[in-house]
Amino acid sequence: MPPSSRPPASAVRLDRLLAWARARLGDREDAVAVLGAALGLSRTQCLARPETPLAGAALRRAVAAVRACRRGLPLAYWLGEWAFHELTLAVNPATLVPRPDTERLVERALVLGDALGRRPRVVDLGTGSGCIALALARQRPRWRITAVDSSTAALAVARVNAARLGLGGIRWRLSDWWAALPGECFELILSNPPYVATADPHFPDLVHEPRRALHGGPDGLRAVERLLADSAAHLAPGGVLLIEIGYNQAPRALALARRHGWVGLRVHPDLAGRPRLLEAHRRALPPRR
Ligand SMILES: C[S@@+](CC[C@H](N)C(=O)[O-])C[C@H]1O[C@@H](n2cnc3c(N)ncnc32)[C@H](O)[C@@H]1O
Repeated sequence: MPPSSRPPASAVRLDRLLAWARARLGDREDAVAVLGAALGLSRTQCLARPETPLAGAALRRAVAAVRACRRGLPLAYWLGEWAFHELTLAVNPATLVPRPDTERLVERALVLGDALGRRPRVVDLGTGSGCIALALARQRPRWRITAVDSSTAALAVARVNAARLGLGGIRWRLSDWWAALPGECFELILSNPPYVATADPHFPDLVHEPRRALHGGPDGLRAVERLLADSAAHLAPGGVLLIEIGYNQAPRALALARRHGWVGLRVHPDLAGRPRLLEAHRRALPPRR
């Protein structure tokens, strides 16, 4: 089959299908990822067995996946699930597709939480698919985890994920950030908030994911500043705030954190080495006399 615009007809070898997908998607790795996901093959299997014959339902599924991705639909929505930190999570257009960079937040939270005591109270603000809360619950079943989102539809997906994974201990709350948690304190406050700026050149490519999960206002920092302003009142003594930020936001996020009284500031790199994870603490109060 030539890599023409014509989809494969009856039966076809895997390498010919790959060439067709590559011509549609413009990149070999994307083509391998999409076909691998649609056919249930690993990257190695896709590349090491070029002569594998494909026909019938498997072929139709592969062609449909390539066409959907060519239209810009995230592969995760087409599949209805996505991998995150050793979990397979249901996702749909009500939820952001969990990104590998957010696994860094989970990893840092695990380190910090372990240092904070045996059963830290943890809150995941803007939980979406529930990925952060669920990854932590899987790794640390004894932690007391709360997860909030302002989207009823996203919370429904998160609850489904919890049920599917058998992770029953998380408190799920419909809330505008802290609104539904008055007076509650946590040792770990975590958030991957919406932080894409209105003029960000990547924004127009993200049309399939919910705007409320992405858009952080004109400079992208509206939710980040709100969390920096409001979270101190909910931080238990010795606690830590972790917020994922955009690739170009570290200097402004640090300035906002200082303005709102946070100390011990660090920015951890993402998988590509860009400064993407803001860590902030509060100054310990002097001991009472
Ligand atoms: C960038 S997504 C992160 C989703 C998920 N935690 C992840 O890492 O994939 C931000 C999430 O914040 C939620 N959100 C936006 N505004 C909110 C608000 N005012 N209060 C609570 N959640 C909010 C969105 O619905 C969305 O699920």
